Amino acid sequence: MKVGIIGAGMVGSSVGFALAITGYASEVVIIDRNEVLAIAQAEDIAHAVPFMSATRVRAGGYADLAGAGIVILAAGASQKPGETRLELLGRNTEVFRQIVGQVLAVVSSPIFLVASNPVDAMTFITQRLSGLPPQRVIGSGTVLDTARFRSLIARHLNISPQSIHADVIGEHGDSEVLVWESARASSVDLASFAEQIGSPLTEAVRADIDDNVRNAAYKIIEGKGATYYGIGAGIARIVRAIARDEGAVLTVSLVTDHVAGFEQVALSLPRVIGADGVVADMLPDLSQNEHEALKHSADVLKRITDALQL
Ligand code: 2OP
Repeated sequence: MKVGIIGAGMVGSSVGFALAITGYASEVVIIDRNEVLAIAQAEDIAHAVPFMSATRVRAGGYADLAGAGIVILAAGASQKPGETRLELLGRNTEVFRQIVGQVLAVVSSPIFLVASNPVDAMTFITQRLSGLPPQRVIGSGTVLDTARFRSLIARHLNISPQSIHADVIGEHGDSEVLVWESARASSVDLASFAEQIGSPLTEAVRADIDDNVRNAAYKIIEGKGATYYGIGAGIARIVRAIARDEGAVLTVSLVTDHVAGFEQVALSLPRVIGADGVVADMLPDLSQNEHEALKHSADVLKRITDALQL
């Protein structure tokens, strides 16, 4: 699978690095309007390859996307300390207007993976600008929030995050919804398992985990200016699901027909991902509060995209 990455900043290059060391892509082409940066990132990543895989990594122009199955959009501005993801919308919409047409002039029906923030709105914009079926325009959405949620639960229970089944849905942002109601440790109800091992999920524990998931990015951005390793690995995981036609379930963003009483809104749900992109959606069991929170999140996102002039 040949993969194009537009944007050679920290997120784009971390995705490239993750793809190269895992070998999930056979070829990676990195494109940036700053060609010197794209070349430097591609060279640096290429030097890791002999230790880890056989992925071919290079910088290029749009013409070099010919034959790419997936194009990752990681261009645009990122958050400054204290700034919300939604405050980036205007700036990144203009950047995407310039990029999407140039990609489609070379590859007519790629799967777009959108990483730039605010990722739900950028996913909506990419779908509308490209005219591709929504199933082929996937935002990284809450894939990273879900990883954060699972890793904090796992730490509390002292078991592997890969044995935790718990999702974050809705906006990748302030209104996201942590779904406790249907969370499991292996196949066991999470709350019962936590009681069994003497580490109950008290209100205080849940509130602490909620705060650390919802505000993880703000805290990391305060500390080092940006987040990139987590999202790099998350996007690589989505690429693997597509490249290997896995049918893996991941929480990603997509323009969704009907959800929580809203139509045509881009937000995250657990979705089945294979060679053609998203093939099915899932709605986990939600408590009444979680259902209300999902409605609120959908409302926030719907208002934003309804106001766009595309
Ligand atoms: C993150 O959640 C900033 O959206 C980015 O890490």
